[in-house]
Amino acid sequence: MFDRHLISGIIFIVSLCFSLVSMDTCPGAGTPGLPGIPGLPGRDGRDRIKGDNGDPGIPLKPDSASMKGEKGDPGVFGSPGKRGRPGEAGDKGLPGPPGEPGDQGEFGDTTSLLQSAFSVSRLTRNPPEPHIPIRFSKNITLINSHFNNEGKFVCEISGYYYFVFHASSYDKNLCVILMVDGKKFATFCDHHKIQKSQQAPSGGLAVHLKQNQNVWLQTNSYNGMFAGDTGDSIFSGFLIHAH
Ligand SMILES: *[C@@H]1O[C@H](CO)[C@@H](O)[C@H](O)[C@H]1NC(C)=O
Repeated sequence: MFDRHLISGIIFIVSLCFSLVSMDTCPGAGTPGLPGIPGLPGRDGRDRIKGDNGDPGIPLKPDSASMKGEKGDPGVFGSPGKRGRPGEAGDKGLPGPPGEPGDQGEFGDTTSLLQSAFSVSRLTRNPPEPHIPIRFSKNITLINSHFNNEGKFVCEISGYYYFVFHASSYDKNLCVILMVDGKKFATFCDHHKIQKSQQAPSGGLAVHLKQNQNVWLQTNSYNGMFAGDTGDSIFSGFLIHAH
């Protein structure tokens, strides 16, 4: 609208110019007049009719369709695979630490195993040989045969034992020595003071013995041990408790 005004204004000015030029050639012409007032704005133009749709585009050639695209993002993690075959057996491990001690067992039958007792008697009027074990000729009681016929008790079960003897003499001095493992343990003597008198030294003691230790009786030179109608000589011993 404005453009049209401008154009018509320009045309007016141009045509005026021509007339001025032509006036130059005309001698004695008057002063040119002032330019005219611009015209009023024109009317609005009509709406244009909508055109037809364009032709469809050309499809991509197969070559361009198969062109490699850009690298995609990594996919999501798949589910775990199947379990593999078991491997070969490993080497044997080191032995473990020892276990705790077990409960105490039941009491066994000790009646035959842990018993030891003897009582032996000497039945001769002949005095024993001094300084060697007195031999006894009769087994009165013998549990587990720990008293041998050489006159020695041989310990099989270590523990506390009690030994006791009763000797008889007649008209003679008598000393009886209790020997433990070759050592004098105790000496018991009776000295006769009256002619034809009877004496009976006796003694007893408890002692701890280890296996294979020996106990026996012997006399010194006072060896008047006698057995007969007037008395016996008896040696006894027994295990008090094994230890
Ligand atoms: C007494 O017992 C012991 C041991 O068993 C044996 O060596 C000895 O011969 C027995 N003595 C007698 C007189 O039976």
